[in-house]
Amino acid sequence: MDIRKKVSIIGAGNVGASAAQLIAFHGIADVVLFDVVAGMPQGKALDLSEACPLWNSSSEVLGTNDYADIKDSDIVVITAGIARKPGMSRDDLLNTNASVVRDVSKEVSRYCPEAAVIVVTNPMDVMAQLAWQTTAFPAEKVLGMGAILDSARFRTFVARACGVSPASVSAMTMGGHGDQMVPLPRFSTVNGISVTDLLSEDAINAIVERTRNGGAEIVSLLKTGSAFYAPAASIFEMVRAIIFDEKKLLPATAYLDGQYGVKGTFAGVPVILGAKGIGKIVELKLNEEEKRAFLYSVDAVRNLVDRLNSPPEAADFRINP
Ligand code: NAI
Ligand code: 2OP
Repeated sequence: MDIRKKVSIIGAGNVGASAAQLIAFHGIADVVLFDVVAGMPQGKALDLSEACPLWNSSSEVLGTNDYADIKDSDIVVITAGIARKPGMSRDDLLNTNASVVRDVSKEVSRYCPEAAVIVVTNPMDVMAQLAWQTTAFPAEKVLGMGAILDSARFRTFVARACGVSPASVSAMTMGGHGDQMVPLPRFSTVNGISVTDLLSEDAINAIVERTRNGGAEIVSLLKTGSAFYAPAASIFEMVRAIIFDEKKLLPATAYLDGQYGVKGTFAGVPVILGAKGIGKIVELKLNEEEKRAFLYSVDAVRNLVDRLNSPPEAADFRINP
C-alpha cells in the first residue's frame, strides 16, 4: 500500500503555488502542480523541491502540463481560472471560470476517481456545485474553500479589537463566499467568551462589514490580483484535516440536502472534515435574523447558478442541462 499521500493542485498561480508551498514545506504529502502555462508549474515545482531539504521535508513536488500526472491523487485542489481585479466582484468571474472548472473537473473524474476535491476558483460556491455535477463524485467528496478564509479574517479583526492573539479567537461564518456571506458573532469567541460580551455592537458591526469586504480590501491594495497567503493557509488546513483524518469542525462549502432548510445548493456551513471528506454537516441553532441572512446568501448563490444556466449562448457552461 502506498502510504504517502498525493495532493494535486490545478492552477499553479498565486493561490495554487502558495498552497503547494505549505503542503511541501510541512512534508504532509507529495504535490503535483498542474497548469496550462508551459514551463511555469515545472519551474515553481523545481524551486519548491530545492527548498524542501531546508525544511527537512521529504515531499516530492512535480510540475506538469500533463493531466496524466495527477493520476490517483488523494486530494485535488482546483485553483485554476482568473482572479478578480479592482472593481470586479467574485461573481464577475462566472462564465470564464465555469468553462475552466468544467474542463478541469472532467480530467479529475478521469484520473482521480477516488479523490476528495477542494474547489477554490471563484465564484466558489457555484464552481463547487459545477465540479460536483461534472465529476459526479459523492457529495461528501466535493467541498469548497471560502468560509474558513472569511472566518480567519473575522478572527484577525476580533483579535485586533480585543488586543488578544488571533490564536485565542475562534469564529464562524456561513453562507456563500460572496458579498452576502454571514459572519456569526454569536458563534465567535475569545477562548470561550462570546465576542458579543467583549465588544460593542458598533465594533462588531464594523468587523462584520470589514470581513465581508475582506477580499475586496486586498484586491484594492494589490491592484493586480487577489489574496493568496490566507487562502493558501485555509486550503492547507483543509488538506491536513483530510490527510490526517482530523475530523476537524470548520466552515466549508458543502452540498446541502435539507440541512438549514436548503436542498440542492452548495453553501458554507460548519462541517466535520476527515479522511472521507465531509463526515457531517453541523446544524447550528440560528436565530431568526441569522437564518434570514443565511437564506439570503444561499439565494445569491442560486441566482448565480441560474445565471450560468440561463443565457442560450452559455449552453456549454450549464450545470443543470
Ligand atoms: P492566478 O491568476 O494567480 O492563478 C490562476 C492560475 O490558473 C494561472 O496560473 C492560470 O494559468 C491557471 N489556469 C487558467 N486556466 C487554466 C486551466 N484551464 N487549467 C489549469 N490552469 C489554468 O489566480 P489566483 O490568485 O491563484 O486565484 C485563482 C482563483 O482562486 C481565482 O478564481 C480566485 O478568484 C480564486 N480565489 C478564491 C478564494 C476563495 O476563498 N475561494 C481565495 C483566493 C482566490
Ligand atoms: C478572497 O476572498 C478572492 O475570494 C477571494 O480574497
